[in-house]
Formats: sequence, structure tokens, C-alpha cells
Amino acid sequence: MMHVPAQIPQSRAQLPILDHTTTRRKFTRYVLFSLLGAFVATSAVATVRSLYPTKVKGFGARVIAGSVAEIATTLRTQRYVRNDEGHFYLLPAAQGAAIAVYWKCKHLGCTVPPPGANGRIECGCHDSWYDGATGALLKGPATHPLDFMPITIENGNLVVDTSKVTTREAYEPTQATPLG
Ligand code: FES
Repeated sequence: MMHVPAQIPQSRAQLPILDHTTTRRKFTRYVLFSLLGAFVATSAVATVRSLYPTKVKGFGARVIAGSVAEIATTLRTQRYVRNDEGHFYLLPAAQGAAIAVYWKCKHLGCTVPPPGANGRIECGCHDSWYDGATGALLKGPATHPLDFMPITIENGNLVVDTSKVTTREAYEPTQATPLG
């Protein structure tokens, strides 16, 4: 039987056309779309996390300050309740009512001490004075009362929402919450 040698192409033009180019292009496109998809997914997760912070305790969240009965008693005797977790003081704004004031001075942000025996909150940095019952401004260089935060009564507990620090021009009775 006679052996017939296989034909060897003599030039590139004679080479069979394989689909390598198409395959490489498809692969490159697949990788690019995968990377783009991963980037978009990561960005979406980061955006959602920033919109819905997971922090659930301390300043920036709702803080349970204690039982209403205990707080009412302490406000009558000590004239304030300090809350380190939520960065606020509870003050006896009116008879049987309390206001939660953020302890950051409205001048340059120093932490103010609780009310003294003279009934004032006196900032130790540049000597701004605030009313020890309401946080109203008595003397500058600060230009506003201490900020306040909303209070709710829930199951006999006083809860302060420290995510809602509110600036005000003056003290108004509506800023206080009845404890009875
Ligand atoms: S920071 Fe309180 S008076 Fe300046």
C-alpha cells in the first residue's frame, strides 16, 4: 500500500482559519464584565451600609437613660442626670418635665460639665454659661443654647434619641418632655 504524505501548507494563507481570535475576545469580554460586576456589587454594598449604619449602641443611637421614676427622683434631688453613653445631661426644664441636652459646647465644642451649685453649666474652655435647668445660653462667646435631643417614654423607661441632635435659638417648653 502506498503512503501518501500529508500536505504541508507553504504559506500563512494556506493555514486553516481557526477561531482563536473569537475565543480570546470572548474570554476578555467575560473577564471585563466579571470585574465590572464585582465593582458594581461592592459599591452597592458600601452605599447601602453607609445609608443604614449598623451601629446600634451609644451616641448616635437611641439610648435608654433609665427608669422614669428613678430619673424623676434624681432630677428633684441632684438637678441633673449625666449619661456618658449618650453624651447628654438630663435637666429638670420644668416641674415634672425633663430635657436632654448634648454636652458639647456651642462655641468650639468643648465638653461642658454638669450644672454647678450656682445652677449654671459653665464651659471651662472660654467661659460660656448655660442655664442648668434648660441649657439656654446665659453668656457667650457661644451664640446658641446647648443642642437638645428628643425624649420618649417607653415601658416606664426614658429613651433619648441621640441621632437627632437639634440646634435651637432659645429654650421653649415644647423641648421638654413630661415625666408623669
Ligand atoms: S468651647 Fe465652650 S466657651 Fe469656648
